[in-house]
Amino acid sequence: MLEKKGHYGPQVWFVVLISSLLCLVLLFSFDRSFLSGGGRGGNNGVAFFVDNYENSIDTRKPESLPFGRSLNKTIDPAPIDKGSLLKANNTARNREVPNVGLSPPGVIVGDKSDDDSASPTNQSSEHQSIDMGFDRGSCSGRFIYIHDLPGRFNNDLLRKCESLTRGTDVNMCPYMENLGMGPAVADSGGVLLNSSWFRTNQFLLEVIFHNKMKRYECLTNDSSLASAIYVPYYAGLDISQYLWSSNISVRDATAFDLVRWLSGRPEWRRMSGRDYFLVAGRIAWDFRRQSDNPSYWGSKLMFLPQSQNMTMLSVESSVWNNDFAIPYPTYFHPSKGVEVAQWQDRMRKQERKYLFAFVGAPRPELEFTIRGEIINQCLVSNGKCKLLNCSSSTSNCDDPVNVMKVFRSSVFCLQPRGDSYTRRSTFDSILAGCIPVFFHPGTAYVQYVWHLPRDHTKYSVFIPLDEAKKVSIEPILQSIPENEVWAMREEVIRLIPRIVYADPRSKEKNFDDAFEIAIKGVLERIGKVRKAIASGADPSIGFAEQNHQKFDFPMSEPEKQERRR
Ligand SMILES: *[C@@H]1O[C@H](CO)[C@@H](O)[C@H](O)[C@H]1NC(C)=O
Ligand SMILES: *[C@@H]1O[C@H](CO)[C@@H](O)[C@H](O)[C@H]1NC(C)=O
Ligand SMILES: *[C@@H]1O[C@H](CO)[C@@H](O)[C@H](O)[C@H]1NC(C)=O
Ligand SMILES: *[C@@H]1O[C@H](CO)[C@@H](O)[C@H](O)[C@H]1NC(C)=O
Ligand SMILES: *[C@@H]1O[C@H](CO)[C@@H](O)[C@H](O)[C@H]1NC(C)=O
Ligand SMILES: *[C@@H]1O[C@H](CO)[C@@H](O)[C@H](O)[C@H]1NC(C)=O
Ligand SMILES: *[C@@H]1O[C@H](CO)[C@@H](O)[C@H](O)[C@H]1NC(C)=O
Ligand SMILES: *[C@@H]1O[C@H](CO)[C@@H](O)[C@H](O)[C@H]1NC(C)=O
Repeated sequence: MLEKKGHYGPQVWFVVLISSLLCLVLLFSFDRSFLSGGGRGGNNGVAFFVDNYENSIDTRKPESLPFGRSLNKTIDPAPIDKGSLLKANNTARNREVPNVGLSPPGVIVGDKSDDDSASPTNQSSEHQSIDMGFDRGSCSGRFIYIHDLPGRFNNDLLRKCESLTRGTDVNMCPYMENLGMGPAVADSGGVLLNSSWFRTNQFLLEVIFHNKMKRYECLTNDSSLASAIYVPYYAGLDISQYLWSSNISVRDATAFDLVRWLSGRPEWRRMSGRDYFLVAGRIAWDFRRQSDNPSYWGSKLMFLPQSQNMTMLSVESSVWNNDFAIPYPTYFHPSKGVEVAQWQDRMRKQERKYLFAFVGAPRPELEFTIRGEIINQCLVSNGKCKLLNCSSSTSNCDDPVNVMKVFRSSVFCLQPRGDSYTRRSTFDSILAGCIPVFFHPGTAYVQYVWHLPRDHTKYSVFIPLDEAKKVSIEPILQSIPENEVWAMREEVIRLIPRIVYADPRSKEKNFDDAFEIAIKGVLERIGKVRKAIASGADPSIGFAEQNHQKFDFPMSEPEKQERRR
């Protein structure tokens, strides 16, 4: 007995140790599980401020849009998306929904799970503070080196924020506050949470990203250890000063300056820049001018020889392979998972009195959009549709309170393209638990491949443009069965943590946000290139090529089956 007792000592300690570890693990998973919780919302509202909410590229000449030409070849033949249009009851989906509340957000979406081992799930800051011993190990393969660029490429631009407003009516200076998140929303009258909401300008993605990068958990000052090299150039803010210039050498000057600086550094030699990435808060077309004819839009930053060895993340990608789209920044920058869970819960419980909503401005000059039809249909909908007219001086579409009031009260949010394919509004609607309705695959499906589920029927409705011009939208949306609507909304709400950029200052963030998912995507891409180089392959193959398949309409499983029949 005595002898046995003697043995129990260490065993008890061992059990205690294991139990505490288990507790920590449980706490950790519990906290994360909140993120997939759901919510309830408010009511009618308002719209968006055009310059912030829409990409302002009015002066763009259509012939200068490379995508415009590729359009009917690659995108227009999009099949009618019966999967979401007709919404036959889908037993597979019904099976998937019930356990959503239990999965951590990294697992929720499921489509990107090919490499779970690289998931930052295991490496939240909370976990780290508990488990110091694993820190360095967990950074293995994830170290990033930030280039210390001269101020003219980033910080000087923030200082001259008044001059960045060229082409828009908005003074950008106030939006620089709070590390690029903009002024905090002081009082939303109960529409938003009391903290973590900001009047964020969509063009500030590059500043927010840089500030998050500075606090990234696996930074290194030793570039030889780095898996990727981040170039903190504020490409969008910079070009916004010159986009409307008729002098192309003025538009291209900083681009040449940048690549000269980068390729002159010793870090460039290791992989000739193929491990470099930069982030732009404007659409890729702004950096892809294909001709030196001044009537063509944009700079040629991404066509310079050095840039063809680098990767760019931006709010809208092009058909070139070294462009990747990441979400526009929305207004919500939570600092911890419980805030996300709280918001999700509100959006789940929210009463939605409008069948659909549109927040935006008409674009009468653009024949390829159906904003005019949408607005007309909305006006005759007998209150089923809520319109926030962003051209009107009375609706402030820049105010997150106005926008969220409309979106949280609507079941579906229409997302027709404007000047460019994508809209920041897509992410605002996801944030409000409002199911996005797309009319063009270029608006989201072929863009945010790292962040949104591969099967778009799970979280959105697709109505091809031609179809939408002929038929009325209301009966289409009305005919979607209640359980389908519920499942889609649940999926949308579960996407919220993946599409927000958490507050860069937060030390308690314990979920994978849009930033983390983007970093993971970049590291995977560069990792593949590194492997290719190591195996003697030519890394330039496929790296920066024009690739129309990139924008092929992604088919859902039901569609593929339909095709096979
Ligand atoms: C593509 O556009 C061209 C010019 O507008 C037109 O002639 C051609 O028929 C279109 N192709 C398809 C597949 O729509
Ligand atoms: C679809 O689901 C709804 C609600 O569960 C049900 O009432 C309806 O009968 C279903 N329709 C089909 C075709 O299964
Ligand atoms: C973390 O990673 C380790 C090994 O890499 C794995 O055994 C463990 O299950 C992971 N934990 C979580 C919470 O993902
Ligand atoms: C949020 O702020 C409003 C007004 O400042 C206040 O009335 C309300 O109690 C606050 N809510 C919470 C949960 O703190
Ligand atoms: C890198 O160097 C700078 C300046 O010497 C220092 O402030 C910073 O903490 C270092 N960062 C890391 C990750 O070692
Ligand atoms: C464009 O701007 C550059 C630099 O300011 C100037 O040297 C050049 O003459 C201008 N070109 C034209 C066509 O105006
Ligand atoms: C781009 O990378 C290739 C090797 O992949 C290299 O030969 C070429 O010199 C690089 N271009 C520049 C401008 O550094
Ligand atoms: C939207 O506002 C503009 C500017 O006030 C106005 O001209 C237009 O008629 C409005 N559209 C609708 C549908 O109310």
